[in-house]
Amino acid sequence: MELPFAESWKIKMVEPIRKSTREQREKWLKEAHYNVFQLKSEQVYIDCITDSGTGSMSDRQWAAMMMGDESYAGASSFFRLKDTITRITGFEYVIPTHQGRAAENVLFSHLVTAGSVVPGNSHFDTTKGHIESRKATALDCTIDEAKDTQLEIPFKGNVDPKKLEKALAEHADKVPFVIVTITNNTAGGQPVSMQNLREVRAIADKYKKRVILDSARFAENAYFIKTREKGYENKTIKEIVKEMFSLADGMTMSAKKDGIVNMGGFIATRHEDWYEGAKRFCIPFEGYLTYGGMNGRDMDALAVGLDENTEFENLETRIKQVEYLAKRLDEFGIPYQRPAGGHAIFVDASRILTEIPKEEFPAQTLTVELYLEAGIRGCEIGYILADRDPVTRENRFGGLDLLRLCIPRRVYTNNHMDVIAVALKNVFDRRNQIKRGVKIVWEAELMRHFTVQLERL
Ligand code: F0G
Repeated sequence: MELPFAESWKIKMVEPIRKSTREQREKWLKEAHYNVFQLKSEQVYIDCITDSGTGSMSDRQWAAMMMGDESYAGASSFFRLKDTITRITGFEYVIPTHQGRAAENVLFSHLVTAGSVVPGNSHFDTTKGHIESRKATALDCTIDEAKDTQLEIPFKGNVDPKKLEKALAEHADKVPFVIVTITNNTAGGQPVSMQNLREVRAIADKYKKRVILDSARFAENAYFIKTREKGYENKTIKEIVKEMFSLADGMTMSAKKDGIVNMGGFIATRHEDWYEGAKRFCIPFEGYLTYGGMNGRDMDALAVGLDENTEFENLETRIKQVEYLAKRLDEFGIPYQRPAGGHAIFVDASRILTEIPKEEFPAQTLTVELYLEAGIRGCEIGYILADRDPVTRENRFGGLDLLRLCIPRRVYTNNHMDVIAVALKNVFDRRNQIKRGVKIVWEAELMRHFTVQLERL
């Protein structure tokens, strides 16, 4: 008999988590204005709000932390990190930052100006925020197929080459770079194929433009290339990663995801002029160039994390857990963005809470219901997160309205996945009784989802 699949690690340290009663959750969520970001973590049983900074470090990473060099300038930790990044990505110039959005802030301060147009595939909200706050436009060129959650195609995160070509033909003089997010978080943790990266490169070359990879989940993207794209089955993850970055000019990185650290990020590039330009903003915003917002010990933990997470077994364990949850949802007929992505399941709220109008935010309502059901905290990637149009100030209802259930790396077992699936089934079974959603009573102008205050209708 073939042996079943099991994790490629065992557990050395544990952290207790707490259950609560429905009455407690009703009270806590009301106090949090029906915004799960406002809950305290001890009010949560299983936390799927993000896979960012929530992973478990390995024994090797913890050991590396003891080698941290906290020198202000020229710390050896920086050089260990830089050498690892250069070996894995091929990029020579590295600027550490405290997290991904700081990498965006530093690099975009050099590259994006009022009137710029930045084409890409479903820019992440901070990426979009850093573009729009500079009075520039983030132009979404994701393939249309990504909007049909029930369509099963292997690389649903891809850039549509025709849309990109059109964007460049129309706005070439205003485009500072093209940005490709791997994997495409907003479209459901969906991967981008090597073929697509090659096409983007060719179009960018035609218009003499550079390409940035938003690389928060680059290793998961490489796993999907290995397992889904013809010609890559026998390549190692490290070989695939090298090839992906060979098609780009630079990267912004949130190391809190595929670096498996709790805090950190960086910019890396092959171009000295980008490095020189970004340097000027790193020092005032983040810190001196050999720490840029990170502790020495965290740079060491990141160097080890990057190495470990570009190994197949580690990625396979993770992605199979996300698949496991997806299979449980299939048993119950719960619709989600198909196929399952790398870091999360994105439940299609608009197909579940069909009686709730867009104006009452179905995905946020589902997020609220799941928390009340079992203390499981997901988050809305939908109409609230989409913010208002900067010009018309209307809500943006054009995209998907999803409940994202992120799976932190190396944190929960498949028993936790079973609890999530059954809790969601219980909500799903009473979906027809949920007829009203939520109403916004207070919101911030940009990135409102973090602080929005809601009322239940
Ligand atoms: N790019 C992508 C694709 C991301 O998913 C994130 C963060 C960032 C950039 C910004 O990085 O958080 O380190 O500043 N995503 C988290 C999430 C927050 O929950 O998806 P950061």
